[in-house]
Amino acid sequence: MAFSFFKKNKAETPATAQGGLQVKAIIQETADTVSLVFENPNWTYQAGQFLSLSFELNGQTETRSYSLCSSPVTDKDLAITIKRVEGGLISNYINDQVKEGDFIKVIPPEGIFVLAPAESQSRNILLFGAGSGITPLLSILKTVLAQEADSHVTLVYTNRNEESIIFSETLSQLQAQYENFEVIHTLTRASDQWTGERGRLSQERIQEIYQNLPQKAGATQVYNCGPEAMMDLVAESLQAAGVAEAQIHHEKFSGSSGLSETESAEIVQQEVTILLEGETFKVNVPAEKTILEAALDQDIDMPFSCQSGLCTACRGKCIEGKVAMEEDDGLSEDELEGGYILTCVSHPKSKGVVIEVG
Ligand SMILES: Cc1cc2nc3c(=O)[nH]c(=O)nc-3n(C[C@H](O)[C@H](O)[C@H](O)COP(=O)(O)OP(=O)(O)OC[C@H]3O[C@@H](n4cnc5c(N)ncnc54)[C@H](O)[C@@H]3O)c2cc1C
Ligand code: FES
Repeated sequence: MAFSFFKKNKAETPATAQGGLQVKAIIQETADTVSLVFENPNWTYQAGQFLSLSFELNGQTETRSYSLCSSPVTDKDLAITIKRVEGGLISNYINDQVKEGDFIKVIPPEGIFVLAPAESQSRNILLFGAGSGITPLLSILKTVLAQEADSHVTLVYTNRNEESIIFSETLSQLQAQYENFEVIHTLTRASDQWTGERGRLSQERIQEIYQNLPQKAGATQVYNCGPEAMMDLVAESLQAAGVAEAQIHHEKFSGSSGLSETESAEIVQQEVTILLEGETFKVNVPAEKTILEAALDQDIDMPFSCQSGLCTACRGKCIEGKVAMEEDDGLSEDELEGGYILTCVSHPKSKGVVIEVG
């Protein structure tokens, strides 16, 4: 099976010498969430990026992405946090089986949900998260607080109840340490003792939070990570309040709906030509598989990471024929117009599809 970890890390360090990063510590964050800590093998990254972990399970390579909750500025180690998904293969495997000292294959940091801090900045950083969506936001907020003394950070964090708040203590400590940091917790099933906000966010509340931000010279940047419905509501509410689309950044943890019925009906088995690193491969793509899956089945060394159309690691260009994509949020309008596709969520829609990768 192709694996891109080794391609990207030719200079291995002792921490990766056994074919992966060694788990240095495991922290039980809540009843259904653990953090894994790794020694950083000199990887540079930006706040908001993610790692992808691969496991060999039942004869298959399973790869999933996890955002770094560590900050490149304040934390020496790399840390990721994994919340169980009901019926989910890898999130439960990590929570149940991974032990300190294990080696895990890890693809170095990637992703475009990033914040570049600048000491001269004076702006509002407005973060919306729910559940495990806190992970990249924690990295971003620690980084901004350490590097932008004149900026103000507001985190709006939705959870089910008091026990399910990930990083509850860390957030309280940061709030006590930094005057320019505010956390607004809202709980959908809080206990009677809870004195904070209750219920899901509404358009009115989101706009009120935005309008009450302290005055700052720089443009507000919004980072949004949680269930799709929440992210859509945040984006629509803020845009209606005058925030430009370019100021709103979002990270999706799971792919959306997939193809429409009409598009699905158009997809039949097709032969696709893949041009990769000077070689030409002919791949038979069955209707139920994506181009990436079919290529990996033929042991073609394709680049990939999240396999959900979210990270762009598998980006290619369709230079002949037509493809249908289940998810295209990871690509910009210019890329889409330029014929770029994500092979992990693409299906050939016509005969004679040719895709250039890399
Ligand atoms: C860029 C990126 C960053 C991510 N960062 C984190 C992180 O920091 N922490 C974290 O816990 N997860 C994170 N995820 C999600 C993670 O990659 C996995 O998708 C998640 O752990 C589920 O994997 P699984 O193997 O357990 O579930 P699977 O066996 O792949 O899926 C089982 C079922 O659950 C559904 N499902 C998959 N993912 C989710 C989800 N997140 N929420 C609800 N339903 C889901 C699937 O549609 C499927 O029906 C991130 C994903 C991406 C793309
Ligand atoms: S592998 Fe992440 S977008 Fe395709």
